[in-house]
Amino acid sequence: MGSTVVLQDVWYRYPGGDWILRGVNAEFIKGINLIVGSTGSGKTTILRIAAGTAVRIHGGELRGSVEVGGKSVLIPQDFDYFILNLTVEEELMYSLESSGVPVGVARREAKVLAENLGISHLLDKRVSTLSTGERQRVAIASALALGAEILLIDEPLAYQDPIGARSIVELLSRIDVDSVIVAEHKAHYFLETASRVYITNHGKVVQVNAPWVSLEVSSWVEEKDDWWLKCLGGSSGM
Ligand SMILES: Nc1ncnc2c1ncn2[C@@H]1O[C@H](COP(=O)(O)OP(=O)(O)OP(=O)(O)O)[C@@H](O)[C@H]1O
Ligand SMILES: [Mg+2]
Repeated sequence: MGSTVVLQDVWYRYPGGDWILRGVNAEFIKGINLIVGSTGSGKTTILRIAAGTAVRIHGGELRGSVEVGGKSVLIPQDFDYFILNLTVEEELMYSLESSGVPVGVARREAKVLAENLGISHLLDKRVSTLSTGERQRVAIASALALGAEILLIDEPLAYQDPIGARSIVELLSRIDVDSVIVAEHKAHYFLETASRVYITNHGKVVQVNAPWVSLEVSSWVEEKDDWWLKCLGGSSGM
């Protein structure tokens, strides 16, 4: 199947805090990997670990083995990392140039990328003036411009209405990366396209195979985003 990020017996705690992850084993594969779980259960932390930013940016202590088989780029839930006074075109060119694309070619490549992602009409706008939905698309384009092979994305649907949410899911399922690892509360949007689903629970990660094939759960999945509680079935982790 081809794994892209493999976590083996991973423990992590933020500075001065208790262990957040307690012996996590997870193998993320090609395609879309969905991480669900209750607030504060460690979804964002897992993305930070896969991005290599947990200790580098937040400090703390990491134990265990983390293997990342390609260039990973994290799109955090807030977009603080954008240089907000740039136009979308400048932002994409900046990312392309940072990943080694020659200056003379970057403008053309930025235009092609924008066309592929349906954001050509935004190229001249300043990132600071975009809606959060538009900014999410630009963030994805920017990650691709940076050469992302493994895209880590935190709650991309948080500010989307249903139509916007479906279009982001469609976009993430067709972009040219090896693997997408997405943490999301509005998880049902991803169920049809996810190759694997993981639930963060009490410091562990539980993998569920195609929970939607279970009749009992699938009747829930339609309208409830906490369907994964049924998958846990009262278990407290692996
Ligand atoms: N920078 C930080 N410093 C200290 N503790 C943190 C930091 N970031 C997160 N935590 C703590 O780590 C735990 C896991 O947080 P995390 O953000 O990974 O959860 P989450 O599953 O993404 O939650 P949510 O669904 O609300 O986004 C929480 O108890 C949180 O308070
Ligand atoms: Mg989070």
